[in-house]
Amino acid sequence: MKQKNQNGETDYDGKINAANAQSLKGDNARVYTTEIFREESAPTNRFEGQVAVVTGAASGLGLAISKKLLKEGASVALIDINEAALNKEYKAYKLKGRKFALDITHESLIAKTINKIIGEFDKIDILVNCAGITGVANVTSHEVNTEDLHRVFEVNFMSSFYMTKAILPHMLKANYGRILYLASIAGKEGNAGMLAYSASKAAVIGMTKVQGKEYAETGITINALAPTVIKTPMVDGLPEKQVKYMTDKIPMKRCGTMDEVANLVAYIVSKENSFTTGFTFDLSGGRATY
Ligand SMILES: NC(=O)c1ccc[n+]([C@@H]2O[C@H](COP(=O)([O-])OP(=O)(O)OC[C@H]3O[C@@H](n4cnc5c(N)ncnc54)[C@H](O)[C@@H]3O)[C@@H](O)[C@H]2O)c1
Repeated sequence: MKQKNQNGETDYDGKINAANAQSLKGDNARVYTTEIFREESAPTNRFEGQVAVVTGAASGLGLAISKKLLKEGASVALIDINEAALNKEYKAYKLKGRKFALDITHESLIAKTINKIIGEFDKIDILVNCAGITGVANVTSHEVNTEDLHRVFEVNFMSSFYMTKAILPHMLKANYGRILYLASIAGKEGNAGMLAYSASKAAVIGMTKVQGKEYAETGITINALAPTVIKTPMVDGLPEKQVKYMTDKIPMKRCGTMDEVANLVAYIVSKENSFTTGFTFDLSGGRATY
């Protein structure tokens, strides 16, 4: 039964009391958000003896994921177009973190790089396709520059395909592999003002479904992760209006953290994750419940 509470707000059978009616407004909403998990425990050696390749390793999520894998024992081939940032971020890692500066939109460069990685490490257990760009945002479809759309597809979709294509034969030989694509909630739902980005991430989700089925009997799992807004340099570069549009849709009313991404990714690419493939994992603070 509907009735008015002491704040003049409508109660539904008394389930919404004055306190939680307050919590739905402004700052008080924080009282109800889940606590942010921060990693404080000692590192495990879950990836000891394993070799990972991470693209987009110089910044944001790729950086957080690479450091997590290194910390848990993996040797990591760190790929990024930004050589200076690679050198700055991984000074301390020596042989365990091998840096490769290249533009992954060039398929021939990828083939050469993968040969070098195999030459040095002998195998590749894990591939995390993380490099990505948003392209121009906050423009409606009739304003989209076609060249920009092509560029976003080249980096977000084609390059991930090139990487996977070059690495799969090595994983097939070993009857083992873990491949992960960084997709996005934008690929599931479509963010207005971000046609190129949303459509390229939807294509990545489609590729994940196909490849999950194609390699299901090979010991290789292929999954995607669809985070909502995570505070990284890529997001810092977007117009404030675009970021607000995205954050307002998150029930937890906050951005995700890099630790939250790295922790879930570490599970997805671990041996423990052995019965899930072709799937797009969610990391959206309650926004996507499917
Ligand atoms: N940050 C978010 O909120 C968010 C949300 C959902 C999905 N994602 C996805 O996660 C991934 C990482 O995003 P981020 O926020 O860490 O971005 P970021 O801009 O911080 O890092 C992206 C990295 O990719 C590299 N890169 C770009 N083009 C490249 C190319 N052609 N060749 C090699 N390297 C290249 C950049 O130099 C950079 O180091 C992207 O695929 C992005 O779409 C991010």
